[in-house]
Amino acid sequence: MNAPFSAPLSAHELSLIKTRDAAHYLHPFTDFKALAKQGSRIIVRAEGIYIEDAEGHRIIDGMSGLWNVALGYGRRELADAAYAQMMTLPFYNSFFQTSNIPAAELAETLCSLAPPDMKRVFYSNSGSEANDTIVRAVRRYWQLMGAPERDIIIGRHNGYHGSTMAGASLGGMAGMHAQGGLPIPGIAHIEQPYYFDLGGDLSPEAFGIKAASWLEDKIQALGEKRVAAFIGEPVQGAGGVIIPPATYWPEIQRICDKYGVLLISDEVICGFGRLGTWFGCQHFGVRPDFIAFAKAVTSGYFPLGGVIVSDRVSDVLVQKGGEFNHGYTNSGHPVGCALALENIRILRDEGVIDNVRATLAPYLAQRFKSLGEHPLVSATETLGLVGGLVLSKNKATREAFDAGLEVGMICRRHCFDGGVVMRAVGDRMIIAPPLVITPAEIDAMIALIRRSLDLTLAELTQKGIF
Ligand SMILES: Cc1ncc(COP(=O)(O)O)c(C=O)c1O
Repeated sequence: MNAPFSAPLSAHELSLIKTRDAAHYLHPFTDFKALAKQGSRIIVRAEGIYIEDAEGHRIIDGMSGLWNVALGYGRRELADAAYAQMMTLPFYNSFFQTSNIPAAELAETLCSLAPPDMKRVFYSNSGSEANDTIVRAVRRYWQLMGAPERDIIIGRHNGYHGSTMAGASLGGMAGMHAQGGLPIPGIAHIEQPYYFDLGGDLSPEAFGIKAASWLEDKIQALGEKRVAAFIGEPVQGAGGVIIPPATYWPEIQRICDKYGVLLISDEVICGFGRLGTWFGCQHFGVRPDFIAFAKAVTSGYFPLGGVIVSDRVSDVLVQKGGEFNHGYTNSGHPVGCALALENIRILRDEGVIDNVRATLAPYLAQRFKSLGEHPLVSATETLGLVGGLVLSKNKATREAFDAGLEVGMICRRHCFDGGVVMRAVGDRMIIAPPLVITPAEIDAMIALIRRSLDLTLAELTQKGIF
């Protein structure tokens, strides 16, 4: 455990905050009853790649917050950009033919970073809202094209596209669909390209083609004149860092082109350098019609999201559309946009993404792979600065633990207590550290993960599970 170095709250103050939190705060994606019993870990400040809790423990943030703190914590330039904008124009809306300087500048900048033939942007506050916007824009597009019956959007099981009604419907999380009658009408799903689980005897390349063919099967089953769009994350994040074989996305592109189906790249995690390119679709060589973005566009310092739209779609919306009856009070918020411009400037000027691609990604790949030697770990994989490993009961046969044992959560607890944040998705343990992590910090993170795996193994052995 990292030693406490400067507990910022007294024991009494901490207990008051925890009591308030448990009594009044309904946390997202949380079992309220369990949390009220156990209490929360209160995070009070952060610097670089480290967060610090109220008891003074320094913890390596192996998840960049929720995948979003690309530049790490404590970047004064980002705070200064927000402050300067707040003092100049803290808010004005973009409804009714008004705009603001940062929103217009950022839209142009984002289009310059995106693949060719994408020249317009719609802003939201979050990734979920970006995907809601896309559902509305896709259906509006096909209406304007004289094909309103083309209204089905195909997503993937275990994909994640947010928590609003449309976002959760596009996603394929069974637990979310089970609560409240989702998905909404007009959404279908295909199986995910998860080689570890579904690859069988196929090579990764052959499996990539096969997994993409499930899209073609679905289009044919639904009727090609009914299918409006396909949505996927370049690499599935919340689903457990599912990295598709290199053959998958180009084949998806071919199928979308063949049937005229719009292609949506949900870049809420992969955007802004996570895979070593500005957008994940550029890594995989895909030309989407929509890019959903959020999170790292501001390194998480301000809520901002949006959609970059292809000319194929936006020319129709602009030229034939009339009023698009959709928008958010905070669409194009000047503070978020000013902060995003500064975030992008730093990513560019400091060569952060080039460094991810050329140096950090290969280094992380090599170090993360070494965790595969651990008796609990049956597979490891990384791409850019995301990684996932699988905890298995039997390394050789890849036999899984009983889900009810929640082995991933046991490992996650040891990680957090030991000074590194990893996320557990079932028994897949995942990381997505800040893009400014150094090779020495990667070493420190891997050492902490290895020790957490040892402690997990010891606990499982002691309980007779392993
Ligand atoms: C790929 C993807 N899309 C959409 C979202 C939803 O974004 P938000 O939580 O900002 O609404 C997330 C959040 O993790 C995500 O990972």
